[in-house]
Amino acid sequence: MIASAQAFERAAELRRELEAHNHAYYVLDAPTIPDAEYDRLFRELEALEREFPELATPDSPTQRVGGAPMPELAPVRHAVPMLSIRTETDTTNGGVVAFDTRVRNALGLGAADGPVEYLGELKFDGLAINLRYEHGMLVRAATRGDGETGEDVTHNVRTIRQIPLRLSGSPPALLEVRGEIYMRRDDFQRLNARQEQAGEKLFINPRNTAAGAVRQLDPRIAAKRPLSFYAYGLGEIGDWALPPTQAELLDAFAAFGLPVCEHRVVAAGVDGLCEFHDRIAALRDSLPYDIDGVVYKVNRFDLQRELGFVTREPRWAVAHKYPAQEEITELLDIEVQVGRTGALTPVARLKPVFVGGVTVTNATLHNEEEILRKGVLIGDQVIVRRAGDVIPEVVGPVVERRTGSERAFVMPTRCPVCASHVEKAEDEVVARCTGGLFCPAQRKQALLHFAGRRAMDIEGLGDKLVDQLVEAGIVKTPADLYKLGVLALANLPRMAEKSAANLLAAIEKSRHTTLARFIFALGVRNVGEATAKDLARHFGSLDALMDATPEQLLEVRDVGPVVAQSIAGFIAEAHNREVIEQLRAAGVTWEEGAPAAPVAGSASGKVFVLTGTLPTMSRDEAKALIEAHGGKVSGSVSKKTDYVVAGSEAGSKLVKAEELGVAVLDEDGLQRLLEQG
Ligand code: IVH
Repeated sequence: MIASAQAFERAAELRRELEAHNHAYYVLDAPTIPDAEYDRLFRELEALEREFPELATPDSPTQRVGGAPMPELAPVRHAVPMLSIRTETDTTNGGVVAFDTRVRNALGLGAADGPVEYLGELKFDGLAINLRYEHGMLVRAATRGDGETGEDVTHNVRTIRQIPLRLSGSPPALLEVRGEIYMRRDDFQRLNARQEQAGEKLFINPRNTAAGAVRQLDPRIAAKRPLSFYAYGLGEIGDWALPPTQAELLDAFAAFGLPVCEHRVVAAGVDGLCEFHDRIAALRDSLPYDIDGVVYKVNRFDLQRELGFVTREPRWAVAHKYPAQEEITELLDIEVQVGRTGALTPVARLKPVFVGGVTVTNATLHNEEEILRKGVLIGDQVIVRRAGDVIPEVVGPVVERRTGSERAFVMPTRCPVCASHVEKAEDEVVARCTGGLFCPAQRKQALLHFAGRRAMDIEGLGDKLVDQLVEAGIVKTPADLYKLGVLALANLPRMAEKSAANLLAAIEKSRHTTLARFIFALGVRNVGEATAKDLARHFGSLDALMDATPEQLLEVRDVGPVVAQSIAGFIAEAHNREVIEQLRAAGVTWEEGAPAAPVAGSASGKVFVLTGTLPTMSRDEAKALIEAHGGKVSGSVSKKTDYVVAGSEAGSKLVKAEELGVAVLDEDGLQRLLEQG
C-alpha cells in the first residue's frame, strides 16, 4: 500500500517532535515530556513505518536502534585531514607564554598591538570523530584513524542520542562537524555496576570503553553503551558564510542542535588563558567526564588561516595538559593482609608511580573475585588511577604489554600469618583466617581497635607498640594490657622508662569507660560505633546484651539479620566471654544504664555525610554533635542521604550530592539546623 499524504505528514511531524524531545533530553538536559509520552509517540511512528516502509527515512528516530552487524569497518578517506594538536609540555603558565609568543611572532605583532583573542576549550578524553551532514542529514561518521583515512562507524554513531540525525536551523548543504565521543563518569560507573551484576568483566576506563563501543561491528552492542558527544571543529564544508570566529562557530553548532560544551571562554592574551586554565583545573574533579587538559585556539579564522600549520599540527592551537590521573606501572606482587576480623585482603605492591599528585606504591584489590574481574596478573603492566581525593586504584592490565612471564594470583589456603585454615563461605566474596585471636595478625588488629580513640582511647598504643607486645608474647588479649607493668614494658627494645610510664598512665585512664565504647571496643564483626550505641541504649547492661537471644537482638534499632548473627556468634564463643571476665577482673568498668536518648529535633533520624575540612570542628566532633541530636552519620552519599555537610576541599561526595539533589550544608548551616531542634 502507498502511504497517504496524511500518513506522510503525520510521520514527518512525529519525527520532528521526537527529535526535538531527544534534543531537549540528551543535549539540553531539560526533558520536555514524560518518558511514557515519548514512548507513545515513538511507538506510533514505528507502527506507521511498519505499515508504510517508504516512510522510514534514515533520519527517523526509529533508525537509531542498532541494525545488523557489519562484516568489517570500511575505510573512509577524510576530505580534510584530521590533524592533531601540539601538546605544551610545560604545564606551568610558562607554556601559555610560549604559545602566545609563537602566535604573536608569526603574526608579526608588536608590543603596541594588544592581546590576541583566544578561545579556551576543554580537552575531552575520548575519541575524535568526523560527522558528515548532507542537506542537514547525518550521512557518515568516521573515526580519525591515521588522520588521512578513518573507519566508517556510522552504524554505531547513529545510536548516540546526543548526535542529531538531522540538524535543525539552516545548516549548509555540506557540513562536516568534528568533535569528541566520550563517556560520562556516572554512565561508566552504572555500566560497570551492570557488568558486575552480570558477572562480566569490568571496563577499564571511560575513554577505552567509548573507543571500543564506537569501533564495534555490531551496532546493538554500541547502542547499549551510554555515549556522549561534544562538537569542537570543522571538516569539509560546502557553500556557507562561515562565522568569523571559533566562538561563533560553536554557537552556530549549538543552534544546529549539536551538543557544545558550556566550559568555553573567549580569553584575551596570556592572562585570560591562565585564568581559564586555573579555573578549569579547580573544576576538573567535579566535572561529570574526564578531561586531560584544556585547548587554546586563536579565535579569529582569518588569523588561523594566516598562521597555518607546521608539519601536521596547527600553529593556532595548543593543548595544555593537566597532571595525569592515570599512569601505567608494574604490578610487582600481590600480598595478602589479614584484618581484625580475619578477612584476607589482597594488596597490590606497585612499582612506585606518580599519579594524581601522589606517589602510589600499594593499592587494595579488595578480594579474589575483584582480581579475577579486573583480570590482572602478577607482573602485569597495570593502569593505576587516582583522581581527586579518591584512594588509588588498580584499574586493569595493559594486556598488549604481556610478555608471558606473568602469573595468576592464588588465594592462600592457609593464613599467611598464623597458618590456620582459610575459609570462604559460599555466599561471601571474602576469605577469612579461622585462627581468631590465635592469629597474631587478628590479635594485633583487635588490640589496635580496642585501644582506638573511639573505643577505649588508650593514647600512645599504636601500630609499632602493638606489634612488639604481640610478638614478644606479652599481650595476648585486651585484658593483658591491664596487667602490664613498667618492667615488662621497659624491657622492650626502643622503649624508654618515661614512655613506658606514659603508656601505663594512658591504660590506667582507659579503665573506666561507657558501655557503648566498651561494646564497640570488643570488635564484634559488623558492630560499628553507631550499632554499639544502639545496643547500649537498648540493653542497658553488658550482661543483658550477653544474654540476648537472636530474636531480642533483632529488636534493636537498625540491627538486621546479618548484624544479629555476628553478635550471636560472638556471644556464643566461650573465649569471648572469658576475655570480658578477665577485663572485669582486671578492674575495667563502664557506666551501665541506658545512655541519654538523643534529643528529638530537626536532625533526628536524618542521615548526614561529612566531606572536606570544616572551619572549626573536626570530623569526629561534627559526628558526635550530629549523633547527640539524633542524626546518623554515613560514609557515602546515596538517595537515602538527607544532608551533606561540606567543608573546604570537598570532593566527589559533594558532586554526588549535587547530582542527587541532596541538601548541602556548611558548618554554620549544620549548627543552625541542630539549634532549630
Ligand atoms: S581541535 C587541528 N579541540 O585532541 C585541531 N581537539 O590532538 C584539531 N581533543 O584527536 C583538534 N578536545 O580528539 C580539538 N576541544 C578540542 C579537543 C580536541 C579533545 C582531542 C581530539 C584530537 C586531539 C588533538
